[in-house]
Amino acid sequence: MEQTIERKKRIFSGIQPSGTLTIGNYIGALRHFPELQDAYDCIYCIVDEHAITVRQNAADLRRRCLELAAIYLASGLDPEKCIIYCQSHVSAHAELAWILNCFTYMGELQRMTQFKDKSAKHADNINAGLFTYPVLMAADILLYQADAVPVGADQKQHLEITRDIAQRFNGVYGDVFTVPEPLITKVGGRVMSLQDPTRKMSKSDPEECFISLLDEPDTVRRKIKRAVTDSDGEIRFDPENKPGVSNLLSIMATLSGQSVEDICAEMAGKGYGDLKTRTADVVIASLEPLQSEYKRLIADKQFLLDTLLSGAEKANYIATKTLRKVQKKVGFAPRTLK
Ligand code: AMP
Ligand code: TRP
Repeated sequence: MEQTIERKKRIFSGIQPSGTLTIGNYIGALRHFPELQDAYDCIYCIVDEHAITVRQNAADLRRRCLELAAIYLASGLDPEKCIIYCQSHVSAHAELAWILNCFTYMGELQRMTQFKDKSAKHADNINAGLFTYPVLMAADILLYQADAVPVGADQKQHLEITRDIAQRFNGVYGDVFTVPEPLITKVGGRVMSLQDPTRKMSKSDPEECFISLLDEPDTVRRKIKRAVTDSDGEIRFDPENKPGVSNLLSIMATLSGQSVEDICAEMAGKGYGDLKTRTADVVIASLEPLQSEYKRLIADKQFLLDTLLSGAEKANYIATKTLRKVQKKVGFAPRTLK
């Protein structure tokens, strides 16, 4: 009897090594990475080429790539089950990005909110890389023929442009790329700043705005205690009118696995002080295993580097296959006369 072996669906995602990760990165993206590694064929990238779209100190960036590798592993990723590697170790990313640049319109890139935000933040360095950032991201994803991409809600627009580029290219050359779907969770897809809960929590904001994955328990407590709430005193989930309280509730819900409704019911009649204490307890408890595993892993730099290099070898094999196909389709000089 003929049997068809179905390929597992492929997942691809990436995080920039541009600072200590926040619980926003964790809740929106990283937390889901290990959950997916058994059912899917997963590839997780450290996107150092994206990171230099804003100025980085070279020594810090180099160190942060290994730190992010340790965070990936500490969060539960198993290099035997998935591929973990650095973007700059696989040259196909930059090569495909160039080709895709020629299939992307200025107008599309001008509409990207991340470009608008980052240009406002770095007005002295609005470089072309910042502008074409989504094209490199499209190359990352399309090289691996990813079916789905787990990301936070802020990356939705970048996934849409990736799909548009893939469809445009396929429209001209046939089915070259898999058109990827975004995987964005409903609760926790956008964790907000503790100091301005109408803006997303970001690692490039001042310290008091975010909780780092490596913050000590005392720091977590202090930051949550100082988090901006509101003056009506009622614990209720209403992101529009009560962004601060709702943010704490969704942080607690996503990390504890309890529903927002159950938490609100349990906390009825209690004050914001109690809400903050409980949120801090949940955050501290869920970071503890990750932090202790991180401390163990970061001490062994050679192991981290070996993991990244063997990941890059596997990634390179898959990426080169797609790149060669694309190069042939667009008519680049042949490598053999056969
Ligand atoms: P970045 O640090 O910009 O490379 O982001 C890495 C991942 O974390 C991406 O999937 C983002 O969408 C996600 N992310 C970043 N900040 C947040 C946030 N405040 N809430 C939810 N997800 C986030
Ligand atoms: N742009 C993403 C961010 O800022 C990071 C990223 C780069 C990414 N390439 C990717 C995410 C590919 C998912 C898939 O968060």
